[in-house]
Amino acid sequence: MASVSSRQDTNSTLKSFKDLGLDEWLANQCNAMGLLKPTPIQLNCIHPILAGEDCIGCAKTGSGKTAAFALPILQKLSEDPYGIFALILTPTRELAFQIAEQFNVLGKPINVRVTVITGGLDMMQQGLNLSVKPHIVISTPGRLADHLDSCDTFNLSKIRFLVLDEADRLIEDDFGAQLETIFKVLPKKRQTLLFSATMTKTLQELQEVALSKPFFWQQQSEVATVESLEQHYVLIPADVKDAYMMHILDKYSEAHPKSSIMIFTSTCKYAQILGMICEELGFNCVVLHSMITQKQRLAALAKFKSNQARILIATDVASRGLDIPTVDLIINHNVPNKPKNYVHRVGRTARAGRVGMAVTLVTQFDIKLVHAIEAFVNAKMTEYKTEEKEVLKILTEVAVARREAEIRLDEGDFGEKKEINKRKRIILEGKDPEEEKQNKKKRIKEKFKRKEHLKKKN
Ligand SMILES: Nc1ncnc2c1ncn2[C@@H]1O[C@H](COP(=O)(O)OP(=O)(O)OP(=O)(O)O)[C@@H](O)[C@H]1O
Ligand SMILES: [Mg+2]
Repeated sequence: MASVSSRQDTNSTLKSFKDLGLDEWLANQCNAMGLLKPTPIQLNCIHPILAGEDCIGCAKTGSGKTAAFALPILQKLSEDPYGIFALILTPTRELAFQIAEQFNVLGKPINVRVTVITGGLDMMQQGLNLSVKPHIVISTPGRLADHLDSCDTFNLSKIRFLVLDEADRLIEDDFGAQLETIFKVLPKKRQTLLFSATMTKTLQELQEVALSKPFFWQQQSEVATVESLEQHYVLIPADVKDAYMMHILDKYSEAHPKSSIMIFTSTCKYAQILGMICEELGFNCVVLHSMITQKQRLAALAKFKSNQARILIATDVASRGLDIPTVDLIINHNVPNKPKNYVHRVGRTARAGRVGMAVTLVTQFDIKLVHAIEAFVNAKMTEYKTEEKEVLKILTEVAVARREAEIRLDEGDFGEKKEINKRKRIILEGKDPEEEKQNKKKRIKEKFKRKEHLKKKN
């Protein structure tokens, strides 16, 4: 197994992008985008990547990890342009589009050709896009594995770079089989770059993905979240949670009418219901979760990014990597089960040195989870003051809006269509849906066993 090397750059304040070994055109492009000085992760990782090393980079949310891998890849591409030069894998579709945007802007002077391959969009068109040899392919693992299984019009055997952005999520979550399909067709000789804000626990597995001894850089910090983030909780009875959330939303929006707010909740259905309650109570919002079409997902995000809607209600599908600088409040409608999900959710605000606030709604059932989060982050949340009297005033209105939303969703068979489509797709692929379900269960079990095994080994 590869061992980990770590070097820290001590002379950080003096360096510019050019000093890191990047060509003038790229340094100028950074400046044009407002990136005047490299952030610590860029300062420490760009040079080793340019020197040909594999790299594991771990730095807080909003610290510029995307450019830390995009810049050296673009520089190498400009020296020897061909397609397909680099493959970037990310866990979510919206993140793939966002990374593509960064590559397109930074790589404009060399006319970089970027293609995004994600689920939910036309596979034929994607096949065509892949066949014309783009320089950079940015993809979610599932859809790329589907393409590899079903067509031979493109070839990944010559890629120079493989990037796993949000590497811990890709490795830990249910992407195992798809990654296996992809890794099988990649060349042994390549650079592997792994980035995330949270990957201490999976480090060992990540080192196994990198083929040669990786350069490892981790931002040193006592606290896992950023310093400019205020972190609060509100302790409330579970049955009046929605009313409290609406009260907080109301209070904050009134005090900060130009604010952008992200609300995270546990399930697609709940996200949809909260969206309907918000609309009913006069808040202009959009929802983002996996039970709406990809076109609707991208449209919702575009509306939120352009401030046409000030509130985005989402599941954890939006918790990783999304960079929307205007977001100043995160509301956790539920306490995330995994502490690291909390770090990513609240990391959607207070990015790149900006300030931001997170408010987590805590019920009597969540106390343990909150303690686990505080231990993981190494910081205490403080209480966010709410006014019970004001909550009481909207209690009935919110309860009625919720009941109506539930009825409307049930009448519309929310979620059923997606399940039917999924089964249809599996059948069209010549597979048995039930067998696939069992296989998935097996894979999860095996992954669990592997984890246990690793734990014991350590
Ligand atoms: N050197 C820089 N100077 C100023 N801003 C920068 C610099 N590098 C990146 N940024 C900006 O910082 C923001 C966050 O960058 P990015 O999305 O790459 O963060 P990240 O570390 O990947 O965060 P996450 O862990 O949430 O994915 C972006 O808007 C980006 O344009
Ligand atoms: Mg990122």
